[in-house]
Amino acid sequence: MLTKEKKLELLQAAVEAAKNAHCPYSKFRVGAAVLTKTGKIFKGGNIENVSYGGTVCAERVAIWKAVSEGEKEFEAIAVIGPGSKEGYPCALCRQVMVEFGLDWLVISGDSQGNYLGEQVLRDLVPYPFVPSALLGE
Ligand code: THU
Repeated sequence: MLTKEKKLELLQAAVEAAKNAHCPYSKFRVGAAVLTKTGKIFKGGNIENVSYGGTVCAERVAIWKAVSEGEKEFEAIAVIGPGSKEGYPCALCRQVMVEFGLDWLVISGDSQGNYLGEQVLRDLVPYPFVPSALLGE
């Protein structure tokens, strides 16, 4: 169970991450921060590409940074968008998240890092395609 303070800290990390977003095409600045079960925070901003197809969302940047550092167990992810409305990860990012479990928390905030809401990943992905589908566990 995450405290409100920890959620706000994670949202602030997402705000920091958004500062380094590379989004010259959409100008839609997104920041994400994942909290690992070991207590580490990894940040990511969206990184766009002139090809468009090479663009990567903030959530995946943060997750891949963590995984590439050996962290695969997550407690939560905070996501902030450019505006004041709550935003949740796109379907592709949700699938990437499902790879690492269904029970982590997805916290949504505004561009300033104000808390707007939260969902458990499981509730954002009905009928998920999970690793056990291939591994047969
Ligand atoms: N984007 C994210 O980074 N995360 C989301 O959850 C939705 C979309 C980025 C991708 C692209 O750089 C821009 O926002 C517009 O789609």
